[in-house]
Amino acid sequence: MTRLSSAARTDVLVIGGGLIGLAVAWRAAQRGLRTAVVDPSPGGGAGRVAAGMLAPVTELQYGEEPLLRLGMASNERYADFAAELTEASGGQDTGYRRCGTVAVALDSDDREELRELHAFHRRLGLESTWLTGREARKLEPMLAPGVRGGLHVADDHQVDGRRLLTALLRACENSGVLVHRAEAVELLVEGGRAVGARLDTRETLAATQVVLAAGPHSHRLAGLPEGVLPAIRPVKGQVLRLRVPDAYRPFLSRNVRAVVRGQHIYLVPRENGELVIGATTEEQGYDTTVTAGGVYELLRDAHELVPGLTELPLLETSAGLRPGSPDNAPLLGPTALPGLVAATGHYRNGVLLTPVTADLLAEFLATGELPELARPFTPTRFSPARSTTKALA
Ligand code: GLY
Repeated sequence: MTRLSSAARTDVLVIGGGLIGLAVAWRAAQRGLRTAVVDPSPGGGAGRVAAGMLAPVTELQYGEEPLLRLGMASNERYADFAAELTEASGGQDTGYRRCGTVAVALDSDDREELRELHAFHRRLGLESTWLTGREARKLEPMLAPGVRGGLHVADDHQVDGRRLLTALLRACENSGVLVHRAEAVELLVEGGRAVGARLDTRETLAATQVVLAAGPHSHRLAGLPEGVLPAIRPVKGQVLRLRVPDAYRPFLSRNVRAVVRGQHIYLVPRENGELVIGATTEEQGYDTTVTAGGVYELLRDAHELVPGLTELPLLETSAGLRPGSPDNAPLLGPTALPGLVAATGHYRNGVLLTPVTADLLAEFLATGELPELARPFTPTRFSPARSTTKALA
């Protein structure tokens, strides 16, 4: 048996230092819990690649109403979360921008789909305004002349995932979170309870509660008993970063999105002149190679939406892995293994769901009570036979 050093014991050990792990650690520390994070490169993960669109309304899919509630709750918290984080990090800006989103249609089939989405919004009481092609171009003059119609959603905004990660890391450090720059290679379980982790440095860390926030690597941690966590599949997204020279500004004033040939494409214009174009959706395992085909498809589809963008300097290409659970909804809260808590599987919504995930998880870690909003997302929905064990009480 591995001997756990009680000197290294914390109340909460978070495995994974991406957006979700750092935000949970920060909020847990604010609740007075002694908290540690373990990650070989804290401040990394898919959040560094993501465009950072906060779009619970324009990304809504049929049958995802509980996820919509969670996304709306997070969106509503974002402004305060970003302001508090800027203060806690000693002034790091997060790039949070209340800009709204325009979703447009390029042909009559797309327009029909958008009309259905608009009707769905209205049934759910969500704010979205139908636009003719001319109205859409009046809002965003760089849109292609062929745009056939669209939706304006004034409350779908954006944040800069990279700045957010920097701010979270600083806020964690300023709040006393111990950040271990190492890899957790094994979950330690004693007497049927998660009690800590062994690191690749051979160090062991003991904790009263372990939070698994390792994105698409979460279920691969050695020592995790079978059936406690479903496989979290990696879904690759390739993303481009362009620069809008001063002379071309404002190039776009809002996020712009569309579905082109069945693929989601979105353009996120940052205040600092960066224009982020995302994203491919590819299920090819743990591969983050940027491919010529991926870049071609993004540029081709983005060019159909906003032809003028091919004039802009291309700054960067990158690829990240979204963590997809079996039902594409996140896993939040206690698992069937006592002492082990999940905060993973956020799929397309990791950036959006960061504030609400951190608040819900911190509440659970501090009180043992999982707030109502998180209950549709407990990890035990994938292990029903174990869902009534004492572990969940
Ligand atoms: N939320 C955008 C994406 O996953 O591509």
